[in-house]
Amino acid sequence: MNILLLGSGGREHAFARALSASELCSQLFIAPGNAGTLAHGKNIDLSINDFPAIGEFCVNQNIELVIVGPEEPLVKGIRNYFEADAHLKNIAFVGPDQTGAQMEGSKDWSKQFMQKYSIPTAAYATFTAENLDAGLRYIDQMQGTIVLKADGLAAGKGVLIIDDKEIAKAELQAMISELKFGSASSKVVIEEFLDGIELSVFVLSDGNGYKLLPSAKDYKRIGEGDTGLNTGGMGAVSPVPFADESFLSKVESQIVIPTIEGLKAEGITYKGFIFIGLMNVNGNPMVIEYNSRMGDPETEVVLPRIQSDLVALMLATAKGNLHETIVEIDPRAATTIMLVSEGYPGDYEKGKEITGLENVEGSFVFHAGTKLGADGQLLSNGGRVLAITSLANTLAEALAMSNKNAEKVIFSNKYYRKDIGYEF
Ligand code: AMP
Ligand code: GLY
Repeated sequence: MNILLLGSGGREHAFARALSASELCSQLFIAPGNAGTLAHGKNIDLSINDFPAIGEFCVNQNIELVIVGPEEPLVKGIRNYFEADAHLKNIAFVGPDQTGAQMEGSKDWSKQFMQKYSIPTAAYATFTAENLDAGLRYIDQMQGTIVLKADGLAAGKGVLIIDDKEIAKAELQAMISELKFGSASSKVVIEEFLDGIELSVFVLSDGNGYKLLPSAKDYKRIGEGDTGLNTGGMGAVSPVPFADESFLSKVESQIVIPTIEGLKAEGITYKGFIFIGLMNVNGNPMVIEYNSRMGDPETEVVLPRIQSDLVALMLATAKGNLHETIVEIDPRAATTIMLVSEGYPGDYEKGKEITGLENVEGSFVFHAGTKLGADGQLLSNGGRVLAITSLANTLAEALAMSNKNAEKVIFSNKYYRKDIGYEF
């Protein structure tokens, strides 16, 4: 069958590789894709938010399966657009509708959902311009570190963690009154700080039941030792050593099952990925956030560990048949190290020539921000450029391989963290 994948990052390269490996895949199109996805299909110059153009492409190319990588089109209702069109509604579609995507698109919505279904999460309250004064008083009575979250999508930048009440109050005002994060911060969730170790759990939901995918840990800070600015993610490992069977069974019973049941109770037929950001607080899982998609770079360690046919899994998700499938997981450890452009997550230069990929041995290089130049040379085209993924019997071996190969890839403003997985 013909398949359309939306997105252009390392996550989408990992999807493209796994989808194209399936015997069920005749032709794979990636919109817009990157220089890496070209090896697995055809890149199409379409905007991920131009639903009419995507719909027309699907009809013209006889697309039978659509998979959405990033959150933005989901939050904007791409699934609803397909469901409302007689020519598109029968296409198998992986990604929740606009209401389901509120799991990620509105922090206030997801906090209300967690509270309603008794899913463990930090205590919180939500404020807007109408009750800003109450928000300032709420901060005054808080103990310890304060977390402020823009309600809407803010490209991973909308969370502030602040120790000082006066600074927190000034930031709350800047978020609500001055729209520090645009309209995303016209509503702000204030919550208590959770002290623990973070990890992520990934779930596939078909609207009836679910399958658990491998867990992963992402390294979000730019600097070694988890210092400096937050990024989209500088590397990841899977599985997560401290997420043992007993911890994961708590995650399943206290979080995954109530989430799936809660979505059903809300009348949401959720067909897609649920990415649950968790804090392990003294052995107990608490939800930091939901995302309505897979993570990046987590996908670059999760998908390589899934041995089952990904197209078959995606079709079962879209058709509500997940109960008939088995997700086979590779017991080996996977690691990925992200090579970024110096300056990221601030300003950085693009268009640097990348060489040395032919010297990489034993790892797979997923492209994140790359493109081909006029003469076919490989160029950097983003802050996050390449993800070097390795599979080995132990995390230490996989990390050593990713680190060794990270050295062999060359571009002039390359930076990467040499301490991914340092605590294991
Ligand atoms: P989010 O955009 O919700 O993923 O938040 C960004 C990051 O802020 C998370 O990955 C956590 O590291 C941190 N964070 C968010 N909420 C909390 C919280 N309540 N307690 C501690 N850290 C948090
Ligand atoms: N790596 C974090 C994310 O994809 O949101």
